[in-house]
Amino acid sequence: MSLRGRVVLVTGAGRRVGRAIALAFAERGARLAVHYHRSAAQARAAAQAARRASGAEAAAFRADLADPRTPRLLAAAVARRFGGLDVLVNCASVYEKTPLGRAVPADWDRHMAVNARAPFFLAQACAPYLRRRDGGVILNVADWSALRPYADYAPYCASKAALLCVNKALAKALAPRIRVNAVLPGPVLLPEGTGAARRELIREATLLKRLGSPGAVARACVFLAESADYTTGAELTVDGGRLIA
Ligand SMILES: NC(=O)c1ccc[n+]([C@@H]2O[C@H](COP(=O)([O-])OP(=O)(O)OC[C@H]3O[C@@H](n4cnc5c(N)ncnc54)[C@H](OP(=O)(O)O)[C@@H]3O)[C@@H](O)[C@H]2O)c1
Repeated sequence: MSLRGRVVLVTGAGRRVGRAIALAFAERGARLAVHYHRSAAQARAAAQAARRASGAEAAAFRADLADPRTPRLLAAAVARRFGGLDVLVNCASVYEKTPLGRAVPADWDRHMAVNARAPFFLAQACAPYLRRRDGGVILNVADWSALRPYADYAPYCASKAALLCVNKALAKALAPRIRVNAVLPGPVLLPEGTGAARRELIREATLLKRLGSPGAVARACVFLAESADYTTGAELTVDGGRLIA
């Protein structure tokens, strides 16, 4: 489907990878809902950059996705503002080190709430709007580590594994009108403060022997929304081969 004039909601789009995804859709002419939680100034700047890129509308929407009430409110606010919705990109995420022996139930709950529960309920809330349009799309940004977990990040990895299950369940439940696919990034943008030695280890662990970029994830999202019209329930790794290394 052509993305020109389509309404796209990207969660966690104020900064980092979500911002790159949002701007890639804007560059294709989409009208953009930039969701954020704490990064208000960055989200407003991203919306402004999107308007410059597309010449189309863009607006920022605040929501704490750990709050079970917000998915419905966010979907309704976006649809009201833009008169509908065509694409939902679930990108917002919590990523915290929670080693065995130190993790507490609240760590588990926080990861599950934002990374798996919110995408599901956001999809549920957006589905009626997507169904009314021709060719609705949902994209779930997961992680290669959903399939090969890190030892010290079990709640995060488990939440992303749950998201992959949600991805398949939604693809079945929402077919044939709405396509649902997942993108599994590898090391595309390391946490701020990652040291040079650690960076080198991560780079060396990929098959392609380089770190990726937020743009690589953004291009995969645009491809799945715009061109992959016979693809649903799929998982596309964008990880430099890290999963199979
Ligand atoms: N970076 C990588 O190399 C990499 C690798 C594998 C997978 N991924 C996946 O790719 C996606 C983007 O990665 P990233 O590194 O850019 O993510 P990130 O910086 O860890 O977080 C993305 C956004 O999630 C939002 N968020 C966190 N808690 C929230 C809450 N309670 N309610 C609403 N929003 C919340 C934050 O919004 P605010 O800033 O507005 O609070 C944040 O900007 C994530 O799904 C991540 O798991 C990234």
